[in-house]
Amino acid sequence: TGGVITLDPGFKNTGSCESEITFLDGEKGILRYRGYSIEELAEKADFLEVVFLLIFGELPNKKQLDKFHEDIKSHSVVDDDLKKILDAFPKSAHPMGVLSSLTSALTAFYPSSVNVASEEAMYNSIVTILGKFPVIVAWTMRKKQGLPLEYGDDNLGYVENILKMMFKSPNSEYKQNPILVNALDKLLILHADHEQNCSTSTVRITGSSHAGLFVSLASGISALWGPLHGGANQAVLEMLEAIKEDGGDTKKYMAKAKDKNDPFRLMGFGHRVYKNFDPRAKIIKVAADEVLSDLGIEDPILDIAKGLEKEALEDPYFVDRKLYPNVDFYSGIIYRAMGIPVEMFTVMFALGRLPGWIAQWKEMRRKQEPIGRPRQLYVGETYRAFVPVEER
Ligand code: SDX
Repeated sequence: TGGVITLDPGFKNTGSCESEITFLDGEKGILRYRGYSIEELAEKADFLEVVFLLIFGELPNKKQLDKFHEDIKSHSVVDDDLKKILDAFPKSAHPMGVLSSLTSALTAFYPSSVNVASEEAMYNSIVTILGKFPVIVAWTMRKKQGLPLEYGDDNLGYVENILKMMFKSPNSEYKQNPILVNALDKLLILHADHEQNCSTSTVRITGSSHAGLFVSLASGISALWGPLHGGANQAVLEMLEAIKEDGGDTKKYMAKAKDKNDPFRLMGFGHRVYKNFDPRAKIIKVAADEVLSDLGIEDPILDIAKGLEKEALEDPYFVDRKLYPNVDFYSGIIYRAMGIPVEMFTVMFALGRLPGWIAQWKEMRRKQEPIGRPRQLYVGETYRAFVPVEER
């Protein structure tokens, strides 16, 4: 029932924290944002409502939602000089490295964002990053593709606008595809927060020194990039492609995943907390079927993924270790169907996780949490006297 756990007061200095934002039960596969189930939110809410819910604690009414969107739109132009930083990157640069750098650089262009002492200043910093982040996400993708950098369109919804900035062709009118809008909206909701995961803990601990919001987010983007974390969605697609190239021989890869001498892991499987199905993976798997069929796409990769899942769920190695598909296992199949390049998959994860990072950072600052300072168990040498180099 999401009951209260009594925490040892000493926990405060361990990097753990109290939070009112996201509840998850790894044994039961339950995930709730501010008490609302992920299943209901993915079905009935839109992404901007969930952004508001995570950050301010309540679902917005129409007036609040419209004002929130207007305030975000008023910050959705990015200083053109930021393009000079973007241009300095080689086309070969990984989009996550570009995104982390541009996000950090935003502080140089919008220094007032560091001051969050008042509620007004905090709100301004939040709507600033919510306005500018989708623009630099789109620019990151189009830079890699050698396409002109697009600004947003204030007449569009938040997610429609993201898709237009990403996909508008230089020589034709952009036509919204509701299938893509709904798919992206749902994926962003499902990625929006996940309590104290690696990247969110990084955002919180960076912000606990009172570093600004944007640079704290940049540190979270870097943490998310790792293939054991958000980078897994790219690694899953690369793994499924490799299996397909290998004639679809899933058994060979299952054997590799179980071989202790082989560093290969079944990407998109397993979780630090979920020892049951990741509820997000269930929803994304159904959405993958729907999106591909709505778009009329036959993707053999989806069949390989389903075959791998079936084998793993019947294999004692995976069953004994409670290894189930996680959020990253099917998401890339939808991104690929949407025409998003595989190197952009983790950027899309960051776009979804942005509101969660903001909400958690804001909570940490408003609770005036002490500077993060995890302790250690020292297992190194005891005292040793110095020996001059001649005698060593
Ligand atoms: C995300 O924390 C979050 O909430 C993260 C996230 C979020 O929303 O923020 O949910 C997003 O990061 C999802 C996870 C994406 N990563 C992957 O899909 C990468 C593949 N998975 C693993 O590397 C692993 O499962 C982790 C990193 C996700 C979890 O690692 P754990 O819990 O530390 O597991 P472990 O390394 O202790 O492994 C336990 C056992 C080991 O075998 P034994 O030593 O007991 O014999 O399970 C095995 C591992 O070898 N194992 C796997 C495996 N994952 C664990 N074996 C094969 N394939 C795998 N994927």
